[in-house]
Amino acid sequence: MSTGSRADGENRSKGGNRRGPGDHNGGAASEGHVQRTASGKSVGGKNSVSKASGNKTSGGKNGGGKPGGRRPSLKPGLPARSAAAAIIDAVLGGHSLDAALDPVDGASALAVLPERDRALARAIVGVSLRRLGQIEDALGRLVTRPLPAKARAVHAILVISAAQLLFLDVPDHAAVSLAVDLAHADRHTEHYATFVNGVMRALARGRAEILAAQDAPRLNTPSWLYERWSAAYGVEAAGRIAEAHMGEAALDLTVKSDPQGWAERLGGTVLPTGSVRLTPRGQIERLDGYLDGAWWVQDAAAALPARLLGDVAGKRVADLCAAPGGKTAELAVAGARVTAVDISPARLERLASNLARLGLHAEIVVADLAEWQPEAPFDAVLLDAPCSATGTIRRHPDVVRLKGPADIAALAALQASLLRRAAGWVALGGTLVYCTCSLEPEEGEQQIARFLAEGAPFRRVPVRADEIGGLAECLTADGDLRTLPFHLPATDDRRGGLDGFFAARLVRVED
Ligand SMILES: C[S@@+](CC[C@H](N)C(=O)[O-])C[C@H]1O[C@@H](n2cnc3c(N)ncnc32)[C@H](O)[C@@H]1O
Repeated sequence: MSTGSRADGENRSKGGNRRGPGDHNGGAASEGHVQRTASGKSVGGKNSVSKASGNKTSGGKNGGGKPGGRRPSLKPGLPARSAAAAIIDAVLGGHSLDAALDPVDGASALAVLPERDRALARAIVGVSLRRLGQIEDALGRLVTRPLPAKARAVHAILVISAAQLLFLDVPDHAAVSLAVDLAHADRHTEHYATFVNGVMRALARGRAEILAAQDAPRLNTPSWLYERWSAAYGVEAAGRIAEAHMGEAALDLTVKSDPQGWAERLGGTVLPTGSVRLTPRGQIERLDGYLDGAWWVQDAAAALPARLLGDVAGKRVADLCAAPGGKTAELAVAGARVTAVDISPARLERLASNLARLGLHAEIVVADLAEWQPEAPFDAVLLDAPCSATGTIRRHPDVVRLKGPADIAALAALQASLLRRAAGWVALGGTLVYCTCSLEPEEGEQQIARFLAEGAPFRRVPVRADEIGGLAECLTADGDLRTLPFHLPATDDRRGGLDGFFAARLVRVED
């Protein structure tokens, strides 16, 4: 890797591929296999969370909790809850879920846990964030006086314990007693143990009534987003988007070749778009074909924009904002000579590591696109611009907490300037694809409308349904790609849903 210069795609990463290229891995906040129905009734199967919770664990020395505060505990099930509470506390305090979940990062509450407890903690965290609006509404009905600001850790205990009582297949007595144990385990929260006990018991008693009174999709979506999506897509679609966000995303793989064969080997199905869809279960790195570099993790919608460049074999293609490299890999497999540019050295290390695992090659450039200048124009340019990521809320439920309206305005301004620069690097007759994983029109449709209205020497080439597996519902009237989280409904043998992506294809018609 180099700063503004050439380098190859050899593996220089020490961390290895923890999430796979594409940033849409389906591994974050995985919910295990069992949830309660809306009535609070358990619909569990063999691999239920409750079973995992009763499993004896070594749990690490301090139960995975916050350094300093938590006391030693070996009680089964407690280390996972302790880690989940610490992660929720961090996310509600403004930290990203990815950072808090990363078990390789020594600061993560998960770092000290054995894999089974990690999975349980992730499941609790995932449902806590996806259902946070409902959980806070339920707690608000029971806790009449607000907790003091310094009792934030108590709030985190209430949230993760309520998530288990309301939505996970954890027996009530286990959820309540572990909540109390958790409060006792930390000197900062032990004074609240009786309070936690009272709230959890009241929640268990009132569960069915509370859940029946809630408008779940509405409660779990911040009003500013709900209103935006209603304005952009209509009230009914906004409700369906919000509903889709309450479920866990599938695990989609892009395979180098033979999707049918890989679907059969891995127990998945081939989507109309060609991705292989699995139900997330266990560690991705242990799946057949991972070490051999036969596939990479990439949401089915995220796999579409690179394809819009058409036949790239032998062509010079710039993949701008490339890391961690899902689209770079697609272009390389298709035979392009790829230059992958990104501002983040750490993310490019992951790209390099991913390409090495896949046996693929690209020129890798660390650079800020605001300053970078290529030596010659490219036959094709893909700009996957930094965005609010509201299209990935199923996988990154913290997005609704971390982003606000001001972020969208700032990102839209950045995207407009990156689009203008990227356009300047497309050769005459060459193709430019602009995309974002955002549901916000300012980051998608409006960018292209303004770009063309300003007289840019480009013509839109509408995307055809047959280029995207026949998914005509994912095309706008102008012929751009617009996937929504409820597109591609579930069938008997596979989960439904797509990440929310926008992509437009333009061709340079004048110098
Ligand atoms: C949506 S992610 C890209 C995902 C990637 N294309 C893939 O498919 O795996 C956006 C990327 O933009 C990069 N980025 C943000 N601002 C940038 C800038 N000014 N110049 C270059 N890269 C930038 C970020 O580091 C991030 O990796």
